[in-house]
Amino acid sequence: MTKIAVWCRHENDNIIGIGPNIPWYIPSDFKRFRRITERACITCGQTTYESFPNRTLPNRKIYVLSFDEKYEVSDKENHFVVNNPSLLRDFSEPLYVCGGASVYKMFMQNDAPEVIVDSCYKGELNPELSGQPVDITFCIDMMMRDYEKVSPDYDEDNVITTVWVKKGAEVSKEILNHITLSIINK
Ligand SMILES: NC(=O)c1ccc[n+]([C@@H]2O[C@H](COP(=O)([O-])OP(=O)(O)OC[C@H]3O[C@@H](n4cnc5c(N)ncnc54)[C@H](OP(=O)(O)O)[C@@H]3O)[C@@H](O)[C@H]2O)c1
Repeated sequence: MTKIAVWCRHENDNIIGIGPNIPWYIPSDFKRFRRITERACITCGQTTYESFPNRTLPNRKIYVLSFDEKYEVSDKENHFVVNNPSLLRDFSEPLYVCGGASVYKMFMQNDAPEVIVDSCYKGELNPELSGQPVDITFCIDMMMRDYEKVSPDYDEDNVITTVWVKKGAEVSKEILNHITLSIINK
């Protein structure tokens, strides 16, 4: 199984959220994320899951990490609660790791994704949001140390997207082609 982490962070401080919210609104970033993950399996933490409109993302199977064994998903056919992330290791198909910070960090530490799609937003954060900033500096430091950049910089609406592969990891051309086409086919 290949794991692919997908995130959009703010440049320099690596913030990905304030409270439960993403502190920018860039439709092209959401669309890129949709193209990359559509018709695939994704995993995310409970906080991120609850931030999706109506707790869903169409056309995806969502594996929601939660310590709550009785946690109820919004769509029992397509969403699944996972109390123990090691159960995801037996996955046969590509698994997209979609946040938030605790989930990116947990995977980077224990079961590092072979691929990272790193989008870096260079604009202003939404000043109206209050709450605790959430950053992924730990993951970016690991990415810089343990991964190789395998793409050019794709620049769209003040967001630079690059693709990184873990040093020594073998990743199929099919997956890398899918990611590249999803980034460039707007
Ligand atoms: N910019 C981006 O690309 C992006 C992407 C995704 C999310 N975000 C942002 O990230 C922030 C949320 O991040 P977060 O770290 O606070 O929350 P999170 O990772 O989305 O969810 C945390 C929750 O997930 C569950 N969880 C995490 N690890 C687990 C494990 N190993 N086993 C079982 N359950 C586990 C726990 O649920 P319980 O303890 O409640 O059971 C935990 O409270 C928000 O601001 C969101 O908007 C940004």
